[in-house]
Amino acid sequence: MTTYRALQAVLNPDGTYGQLVATLPISQLPPHPVRVRVHWSALNYKDALSASGHRGVTRQYPHTPGIDAAGIVESSEDERFKPGDQVIVTSHDLGMNTPGGLAEYIQVPGDWVVPLPEHLSLKDSMILGTAGITAALALHKLLRNGLEPEQGPVVVSGASGGVGSVAIMLLAQLGYTVWAVSGSQDAYNWLTELGAERCLPRTEVSDHSSRPLLKSRWAGAIDTVGGEMLSGLLKACRKEGSVAACGLVASAEFPATVYPFILNGVNLLGVDSAEFSASLRQELWRRLGSDWKIDGLDKLATELSLDQVPEALQNMLNGSTRGRQIVSLA
Ligand SMILES: NC(=O)c1ccc[n+]([C@@H]2O[C@H](COP(=O)([O-])OP(=O)(O)OC[C@H]3O[C@@H](n4cnc5c(N)ncnc54)[C@H](OP(=O)(O)O)[C@@H]3O)[C@@H](O)[C@H]2O)c1
Repeated sequence: MTTYRALQAVLNPDGTYGQLVATLPISQLPPHPVRVRVHWSALNYKDALSASGHRGVTRQYPHTPGIDAAGIVESSEDERFKPGDQVIVTSHDLGMNTPGGLAEYIQVPGDWVVPLPEHLSLKDSMILGTAGITAALALHKLLRNGLEPEQGPVVVSGASGGVGSVAIMLLAQLGYTVWAVSGSQDAYNWLTELGAERCLPRTEVSDHSSRPLLKSRWAGAIDTVGGEMLSGLLKACRKEGSVAACGLVASAEFPATVYPFILNGVNLLGVDSAEFSASLRQELWRRLGSDWKIDGLDKLATELSLDQVPEALQNMLNGSTRGRQIVSLA
C-alpha cells in the first residue's frame, strides 16, 4: 500500500474553502511512531470548523480533518502497541494541525492512542467518539461536585447534536431525570426515545434579561451552546448545583454576573476533552465500555461514506445535525 484515500480541506484561489476526497502518498503521513489503519471515524463540530477554514482550529491547508478515529495498528515503533491492536485515537492535535481521522490511515504519537476497551466495538467507539468522551468528562465533573439523581433534573443543551445526544443517553441510563433543550421541534420524539423526560425550546432556557437570578429549576446542566443559554442555565440552577460548559455553537461569549456563584454557590465547570490526563481518559473509556456502557447506541448513528462527508459537514455548520454521524473507512 503506497497511497490512501483522505478528505482534504483546501483553500481555493478565490479565498473560499472546499473539501474533496483525494488519494495521497502514505509517505506524506507525519513521522509519528504509530500507524493506524482507520476503520471508522466520526464527525464533530470541530471538524466542520477545520474543514471550512477556521484558523483557530487549523492553520495550514490543504489539510485532512477528523478529530476521531478508530482502527487497527498497522505498525508501531512504540513498544506499548503492536500490529493488530484495536485502538481509539481522539482529541490532542488529531485533525487540527495533524492529518486526521477522515482518512484510511493516520500516524500519531503513542500517547494519543487508547486501547479499545473490552465490550466496545470499533464502530461503537466512534458512535461515542469525542462526543462520548466529552459527555463522560462532563458527567465525571458533575459527579465529583456532588450531583445525584434525587437532586432534580439535569438539563442538556444542543440536545440533538453529538455531545448533547450522547449526554442524554448516558445521564438517563444512570438514573438522572434529563431535560433536553433543543431548537429542533421535529427531534422531540427522538430525544424522548433517547431518555429525555422533557424537551424545552431554546427560548425557555436562554436568558438575556438583566435579572441576576431566575427561579431554581434544575440541579445541573451540560451546556454545548454557550452565550445566553449558558447564562440562563447558571441563573436557574439550584443552590450548590453545577453547570458543565463544553461548547460554543451559539457564542463563545456569555453575559454573566457573579450572583449565581456568590448567592447560590453554583459551580461552573470547564470541560476540555482535547487535553486531559491520559489516565483519566483511559478510565472514562473503560467506564464507557462497562458501568457507563450505553444500551442502544445505534439509535444515535448515521453511517456515511467519505464522499458524503462534505455535505454532512456543511449541515453541521448550519446547525441541522442529529446524533452522531460515523464514517466507514474499512
Ligand atoms: N469542550 C470540549 O472538549 C468539546 C468537545 C466536543 C465538542 N465541543 C463543543 O461542543 C459543541 C457541540 O459539539 P457537537 O459535536 O455536539 O456539535 P453538533 O453535533 O453540531 O451539535 C450542536 C447542536 O447544537 C444546537 N445548536 C446549533 N446551533 C445553535 C445555535 N445557534 N444556538 C443554540 N443551539 C444551537 C443544535 O441542537 P438543537 O437543534 O437540538 O438545539 C445542534 O445539533 C461545539 O461547540 C463543540 O465545539 C467541545
